Amino acid sequence: MDYSNVLICDHPLIQHKISMLRDVNTGTNEFRKLIEEIAMLEGYEALRDLPLEDVEVTTPIETCMTPMIAGKKIAIVPILRAGLGMVSGILALSPTAKVGHIGLYRDPETHEPHEYYCKLPSPIEQRTIIVVDPMLATGGSACDAISMIKSHGGVHIKFMCIIAAPEGLKRLAETHPDVQIYVGHLDRELNENAYICPGLGDAGDRIFGTR
Ligand code: PRP
Ligand code: URA
Repeated sequence: MDYSNVLICDHPLIQHKISMLRDVNTGTNEFRKLIEEIAMLEGYEALRDLPLEDVEVTTPIETCMTPMIAGKKIAIVPILRAGLGMVSGILALSPTAKVGHIGLYRDPETHEPHEYYCKLPSPIEQRTIIVVDPMLATGGSACDAISMIKSHGGVHIKFMCIIAAPEGLKRLAETHPDVQIYVGHLDRELNENAYICPGLGDAGDRIFGTR
């Protein structure tokens, strides 16, 4: 799958931690920590194009001009529920980021997303918006969340997931070609229930210990 707006973040640390996530014996506490750590490692890539500006700093030796991040207009937008698990990992990199929330759930029969909540930082136009959700399955939730953000005025949008199915990645990359997509691992396929195979099961249930 070769889309110019897709980056598979195949760093060995990310791959190792995703394998631990997949394990059915990984409990809630460890699962949450792994989601946070992977989000931080992917965030390192997603924030690679942050603009810099030279500022004057005095070292113990002399005064010099040296780069620092120019402005910090970042918004993190988790798709509820499972996206919440990724927020702290990115906040560790960018502690002043604003956080919006979009609530979507998949209908168990149709697998279509249904919106139940949307609260975004305002104004959103000037911000780099990082939408996070560990799972990109059919792509319906991510596509709808990004359309909602665009309808509120969002322009500079990135999407970060941990595991993607080919079907969802294709749909998202083609529906929103202006959105840069960061993926931890591209899995084989969706099953008849639109779950990712081999996947990790239901991400929301595993993060929050529900069923
Ligand atoms: C999961 C997941 C994504 C969505 C992906 O959420 O966290 O949001 O499914 O599926 P899609 O690509 O086919 O839309 P779910 O709807 O199960 O809600 P939850 O996070 O509240 O459990
Ligand atoms: N949502 C999940 O949490 N897991 C999947 O495999 C698909 C959608």
